[in-house]
Amino acid sequence: MDDGKLIEMAFQGRKRAYAPYSRFFVGAALLCEDGSVFLGCNIENASYPAGNCAERTAVFHAVSEGKRRLKAIAIVGGREGQDMDYCPPCGICRQVLREFCDPSRFMVILAKSKSEYQKFTLDQLLPHSFGPENL
Ligand code: THU
Repeated sequence: MDDGKLIEMAFQGRKRAYAPYSRFFVGAALLCEDGSVFLGCNIENASYPAGNCAERTAVFHAVSEGKRRLKAIAIVGGREGQDMDYCPPCGICRQVLREFCDPSRFMVILAKSKSEYQKFTLDQLLPHSFGPENL
């Protein structure tokens, strides 16, 4: 799976975002070690804290389908009708991703478009993290 294809899929996920309160629409495409891809979008709620980020939606989507070994995620987000900017994952999503990957190898792709993107390891975004091995 090349980066451009995963980013394209993240844009597909973004189409399903339910964000009537923030009007900030986020999509994610999560690549598993076995090559399968799961999409996610942010899902807001009239009771604001009950909403969920696109990244966590994608992880829960994958795990609920039996996948526990994650390889990479592409994330796209921005306000409705505005130019895309990079949308880094929030701290809670970084921790949720951490559970199901090797953070020194897992890649986070932040994209404005198919050709304009940045790549980080999860370790770079969540250094000295706490994971299953610590328990
Ligand atoms: N959001 C995400 O889905 N992912 C991120 O990485 C940052 C924020 C969502 C949560 C909320 O629905 C909206 O964007 C504004 O914070």
